[in-house]
Amino acid sequence: MLKNLLNGGRKQRKMKIPLIKPNFDKKEEKAVIDVLRSGWVTQGPKVEEFERMVASYVGARYAVAVTSATTGLFLALHVKGIGAGDEVIVPSFSFIATANVVVHSQAKPIFVDIDPNTFNIDPEKIEKAISSRTKAIIPVDQVGLPSDLDKIHKIAKAHNLIVIEDAACAIGTKYKGRKIGSISEMTVFSFHPRKTITTGDGGMITTNDKKLADRLKLLRNQGMGVSDVKRHSSKKVVQEQYPEIGFNFRMTDIQAAIGIEQMKKIDRILTKREKLAKRYDKAFLSSKNIIPPYIPKGYEHNRQSYVVRVKKESKISRDNLMQKLLDLGIATRRGVMASHLEKPYVKMLGKIKLPITEEATANTMVLPLFPKMTISEQDFVIKNILNLTQ
Ligand SMILES: Cc1ncc(COP(=O)(O)O)c(C=O)c1O
Repeated sequence: MLKNLLNGGRKQRKMKIPLIKPNFDKKEEKAVIDVLRSGWVTQGPKVEEFERMVASYVGARYAVAVTSATTGLFLALHVKGIGAGDEVIVPSFSFIATANVVVHSQAKPIFVDIDPNTFNIDPEKIEKAISSRTKAIIPVDQVGLPSDLDKIHKIAKAHNLIVIEDAACAIGTKYKGRKIGSISEMTVFSFHPRKTITTGDGGMITTNDKKLADRLKLLRNQGMGVSDVKRHSSKKVVQEQYPEIGFNFRMTDIQAAIGIEQMKKIDRILTKREKLAKRYDKAFLSSKNIIPPYIPKGYEHNRQSYVVRVKKESKISRDNLMQKLLDLGIATRRGVMASHLEKPYVKMLGKIKLPITEEATANTMVLPLFPKMTISEQDFVIKNILNLTQ
């Protein structure tokens, strides 16, 4: 097949390869049906069970389920009282939700450039961005690779800042032997279908601080001082109180039931992803124009996304390569967006220059990777990329 493709003469075979496929089977189907039949579909016992599983898996004392990582990040800023007049340091090289939650909190996002190798926020550049108004740093464990948390926490401590880790992509990732979710004061995960495990949509905040966990639980449920599970299981009538103004960020028991089944197989999912990622690594190692992801020593990547850099020397640009691959039935996405280039942020902050972020967003690309991907599907992706780029 490679010979055919390289010769380019004969008609090329097409395949239909998506970027990602959720890893569901009969277990998730049954779990959903059981919840529907139980009659309790909103936040209830399944959410509590899912929270216990995630907390125990990541090594945190508490986990608080919410509707998404976006609402989780917003709630984390909210419980810390971050608001008007405050500044929060974020990488621009992230899904726009990271910056948006700062704006929703009425604070100002301060964009900091990334490290050219890891694509995560560059700790060396954080200090310069700190002002008397800075209250927090949101490092992003981008596409599942942890940020340099030791350095970031050291800076945060020196300047009395809060670290809220955006680990939307990073469940199962490890930093220097510790699972992500157990390191920062609050860590926020996403269960969107492009993530390692999914509940359709959904998010989780983990923390070791009981007071924070209790307040997060209160605020996600309209500020109601007693949970529905407690109220409904009480033998006595409970008249609930609302000591704070909260939100409806409740995950449903339908989602949590799926999450429980996903958590049971998370290690198998991670092993499969790692195997496929290693095959990509090997295939691109000798390529001049495709640079595989860099993983520093002591970091364990959950391989949520496999992002390559297309070198300028490649005979085809990143965008044309993506189009040619799509013509062959292979879905890809640009690496990660640069939030500071989007219209609302240009309007809000003016034209900022973040050269490494801009370079990375222009030249990186996400390749298909999902546990049920077959070897022949992956070979088709590899051969076509190599053929088109050299
Ligand atoms: C780094 C990052 N932060 C936040 C989010 C938002 O996650 P959610 O869709 O669960 O709100 C995403 C989603 O892609 C993300 O990649």
